[in-house]
Amino acid sequence: MVSRVIPVDPFDLVIFGGTGDLARRKILPGLFRRYCAGQMPDDARVIGAARSEIARDGYREMVAEAIREFGGGPACEDGTLDAFLERLEYVAIDARGEAGWTELQALMAASDRVEAYYFSVAPSLFGDLAERLQSYGMADDAARIVVEKPFGRDLASARELNRTLAKYFHETQIYRIDHYLGKETVQNLMAVRFGNMLFEPLWNSQYVDHIQITVAETVGVGGRGEYYDKSGAMRDMVQNHLMQLLCLIAMEPPARFDPDAVRDEKLKVIRALEPVEPHHIVRGQYEAEPGDEENHPDYRTAVGNPRSRTESFIALKTHVANWRWAGTPFYLRTGKRMVARSSEISVIFKDTPHSIFGEEAGRHRNVLSIRLQPNEGITLGVTIKEPGPGGMRLIDVPLDMTFADALGPEGGESVDAYERLVMDVIRGNQTLFMRGDEVEAAWGWTDPIIEGWTKRGEAPKPYASHSEGPDASEQMMARDHRKWRKVEP
Ligand code: BG6
Repeated sequence: MVSRVIPVDPFDLVIFGGTGDLARRKILPGLFRRYCAGQMPDDARVIGAARSEIARDGYREMVAEAIREFGGGPACEDGTLDAFLERLEYVAIDARGEAGWTELQALMAASDRVEAYYFSVAPSLFGDLAERLQSYGMADDAARIVVEKPFGRDLASARELNRTLAKYFHETQIYRIDHYLGKETVQNLMAVRFGNMLFEPLWNSQYVDHIQITVAETVGVGGRGEYYDKSGAMRDMVQNHLMQLLCLIAMEPPARFDPDAVRDEKLKVIRALEPVEPHHIVRGQYEAEPGDEENHPDYRTAVGNPRSRTESFIALKTHVANWRWAGTPFYLRTGKRMVARSSEISVIFKDTPHSIFGEEAGRHRNVLSIRLQPNEGITLGVTIKEPGPGGMRLIDVPLDMTFADALGPEGGESVDAYERLVMDVIRGNQTLFMRGDEVEAAWGWTDPIIEGWTKRGEAPKPYASHSEGPDASEQMMARDHRKWRKVEP
């Protein structure tokens, strides 16, 4: 199966923070792969803009190195890199001053192409950038801006950011990235739910016992200690990525697969989320790796804050208070330095109401697992008879749809989330981007939870590196007579 590539319209993409970590790791290598795949038109331009005083050739060299380090793709042949680098420009710019703006304005002048501005910078600069884009005449109605997370650190700051951006841009021009929405399986989740008759009739509290969403990472906080210690797993992962996954699982079928129809349904889910009881939250901090404390120190050492109460792990239980989901708990869990890198959503169906095979055959449950990474794919656990003579014994077997196997090497080639999302910006498709009210609603649910544990003065519980988090997380499930699914690579 050969994947179809539809070239986008000619564009000029300005990346503010064009020398930064995200640009080097994700945005630029992603653009290069789209170039190799034939999706980026030959006359498209990518304009790096950052504080460093480097010349265009210096920037091209930096980007070439980043691409060598963080990857071209299978379609990138020798020689393509030079052609891609020709598409790059660079402007040294001062986000808070005037330096560089006239030059950028000249580069963007008289362009009848798609104009997009990627704010890959600290949110404290969003307002300055937006204001200057306007005063230099670049914020016309057709311009698009892309903003990265964190989008605020609570409801008040998110509102403020939304208000600031709204002074210069319409909501239809603002693309708030949550890169989880760009992951292949996340979109496939919508295809599976709304493209098949099979699942939707069972997709409710009558048939679903509970839902688990786990995003486990093996990495620690690395060099991001300063940012992370002010955020923690709740702000860094739950408020955005896990909430988005929950929305896609829980939402009603939108009337159309278009930006507002999808986002309206997600918003309804967020607004229906119940507050979380204190005893339905477990927070943890990872311990050092025994024998390798120097390279893998404990969380507090890693962030340089010996008294930190920020969580690097969180597990919680919530409910979506509506007709479809009343009575079905949603368990969310995410953490750093866990036993494996594994992101999975599991829909655990209820037991059959009556077993005709007798108790000795055992009770079995269907589980639909949607694996985001690694080995993306969807598996449905079904119960069958164990082959052979000797009576009716039941076993569970997976109906496996690992995409790489099912679709073959070409159809199964996965496109990085950033690659897809940047192309969506150019196409002007906001479906996989968060709307302002959605982000605010997500903070509206998150804020009281964080305020609660801060007021109660709760410290996170330590957990061993390479584990599944603190024991209390298993105990939370055990109290509900349930178990977390194993975190497996
Ligand atoms: C980012 C978080 O948004 O997502 C990081 O800030 C986290 O802390 C990352 O490591 C995980 O993304 P992925 O795509 O590697 O699962």
